[in-house]
Amino acid sequence: MKLDVIVIDDSSINLVLTSHLIHKFEGCITSEFNNPKQALEWCFEHVPDLVIVDFMMPEMDGIEFIRRFRALPERADIPVLMVTANDQIEIRHRALEAGANDFLNKPIDKIEFAARVRNMLSLRRSQRKLLDQAAWLSEEVKLATNEILARERETIIRLSKAADSRDPETGAHILRMSHFCKLIASHIGVSEENQQILLDAAPMHDVGKVGIPDNILLKPGRLDPTEFDIMKQHSFLGYEILNGSESVILKAAAEIALSHHEKFDGSGYPFGLVGDKIPLFARICAVADVFDALTSERPYKKAWPDDQAIAYLREGRGKHFDPMCVDVFLENWDEVMEIRNRFKD
Ligand SMILES: [Fe+2]
Ligand SMILES: [Fe+2]
Repeated sequence: MKLDVIVIDDSSINLVLTSHLIHKFEGCITSEFNNPKQALEWCFEHVPDLVIVDFMMPEMDGIEFIRRFRALPERADIPVLMVTANDQIEIRHRALEAGANDFLNKPIDKIEFAARVRNMLSLRRSQRKLLDQAAWLSEEVKLATNEILARERETIIRLSKAADSRDPETGAHILRMSHFCKLIASHIGVSEENQQILLDAAPMHDVGKVGIPDNILLKPGRLDPTEFDIMKQHSFLGYEILNGSESVILKAAAEIALSHHEKFDGSGYPFGLVGDKIPLFARICAVADVFDALTSERPYKKAWPDDQAIAYLREGRGKHFDPMCVDVFLENWDEVMEIRNRFKD
C-alpha cells in the first residue's frame, strides 16, 4: 500500500530532515511544503495518509492548519502529528482540540519519531483497508440490487404478456404506451427515479383483463351496458392482483390498474374521481393509453389518423384527460413519433 505523507514546516532544513526519516518507511512518499496555505490548497485535491505539521509558522500556525484541514470533507479521520516543544503544554491542548492525534518533540528524536510515525501509519493502513472493504461491499450490494431489479422487470413483462395473450392489445401497444407515459412524466417534473417506476409499472395497466370472460373481452362489436359493466371490473381485478406488494413498481402498478379509466371531470370509473384526486401516474397513463389505442389497428377497428387522434385528445382536455398531460404530450410530438417508430406492431 502506497502512503502519502504531507510535511509542513517553514524551515527547509526541518523539511529535508523529516522527509528523510519518513522515506525509511516502506511505501511512503512525501509532499513537502514550507507554506501552510499552499499545503492546504494541496489538500483540497489530495487526501494524504498522514499529516506532519510544525506549530510555529508565519501566516498560519499549525493549529489553524489542522482546524482548516479537519473541516475539509473526508479529512476528519486522517492521522495528524504536530511538531512542538515538549514544554508547550497549553499549545498541545489547543492542538488536540483542533484535531491533532499526537505530537513530535522538537528537536526531533529519531527513535521517538519512528515509533509515533509507525503507529500513525498502521492506524491509517487499517482505515484504508476498512474503507476498501466498505466500497467493495457497497459495489456488491449495488450489483445484487440491480440483479433483483432486472428479475422484477422480467417478471412484470411476463405477467403482462400473460394478460396480453387473451387481449387484442399487442405487446407493441404496451411498450409504446409505457414509453409515452415516461415521456409525459419527464416533461412535468417527475423525478428520473419515478419516471423509471412508471415505465416499469404502466405495462400492467390492463392485467385485470385476465379475469374478464372471453365472450366479452374478445367481442368484435360494441359491448352492451351489462357487458360493459363486467368489462369495467378489469381495473379493480388488476388492482387486486397487484395490490399489497412491498415492491415500489407493483405499488405503482396497482394504483395505475385501479385508476387508469378515471376521467379528469369525474365521469370515469371505478370511483368517478375528479382532477388531482386521480393519482398522477393514472392521469398520465390515460393519455398515453387512449392515444395509442386510437392510432393502433384492432380487430374491431381501423387505426385512426394522427390528426383525428390529436383532435380527440384536445377535445378531451380537461374532460377525460388532465390538461397538463395532454399539453406536454402534444408539445413533444417529435418524441412521440420517435417512440412510435421504435416500437412498431
Ligand atoms: Fe384498461
Ligand atoms: Fe392499454
